[in-house]
Amino acid sequence: MSSVAIVGAGPGLGAAVARRFGREGYAVALVARDGGRLGVLTRELAGLGIDARGYSADVRDPAALAAALARAGEELGTVEVLQYSPVPQADFMRPVLETTHADLLGPVEFSVYGPVAAVQQVLPGMRELGRGTILFVNGGTAVIPHPDRAGTSIAFAAESAYGHLLHDRLAGEGIHVGQLVIPGAIVTGHERKDPAVLAETLWAMHRDRHGFRHYADDLES
Ligand SMILES: NC(=O)c1ccc[n+]([C@@H]2O[C@H](COP(=O)([O-])OP(=O)(O)OC[C@H]3O[C@@H](n4cnc5c(N)ncnc54)[C@H](OP(=O)(O)O)[C@@H]3O)[C@@H](O)[C@H]2O)c1
Repeated sequence: MSSVAIVGAGPGLGAAVARRFGREGYAVALVARDGGRLGVLTRELAGLGIDARGYSADVRDPAALAAALARAGEELGTVEVLQYSPVPQADFMRPVLETTHADLLGPVEFSVYGPVAAVQQVLPGMRELGRGTILFVNGGTAVIPHPDRAGTSIAFAAESAYGHLLHDRLAGEGIHVGQLVIPGAIVTGHERKDPAVLAETLWAMHRDRHGFRHYADDLES
């Protein structure tokens, strides 16, 4: 048995992806900071017959994140699918001229150190399986930097470069790496940006395994 790990698992996209992959028979590891909220989500998924467990960790603490993913692999089966999608902190989004080097520490820990720590932890297992999928989820500033959201714009660009490098390096090993860019907000009921629709898009990226960057919607909207 193998599992999907959702790093940054909350009631929106995280829960929708848990339901989508859970429906396919994957055990689901939910990683976020708040153990109480993870418990609620785990129970909701159990009600749908999905084997899910919560693992509390802050993605800005690479050792804690790696330990959480290691435990998930031991308890639920090798992590075959890793999704990195924690929702960024509001204070990462400051105007560029008001952003100091110190202000970039959080965004870089969140969007660079975290993804690298997570990938380094799960990659040996995927290589042993001979298959795997790594999915990064970002907002539109990953593609078009926004002058009032300097931290996420800069750090998402770095995360995108890391993902792209991984995509090219791992494709020959049966490990697919993709990025879903969601322009604007996730909107319940939206034709393309409802959490369930986005989860379907992420499932299709995992299933179809082509190309690195995918867009959930037109960039202008
Ligand atoms: N929401 C939007 O409108 C929107 C728009 C464009 C792109 N996105 C992308 O969509 C993904 C999020 O989807 P969502 O907004 O529906 O969120 P969600 O899946 O409902 O929840 C994300 C979870 O991330 C966790 N998180 C935040 N900081 C964390 C940290 N430092 N360490 C560990 N976990 C952390 C939070 O849980 P804890 O507080 O318990 O840690 C939160 O519940 C992200 O990749 C985001 O970039 C969202």
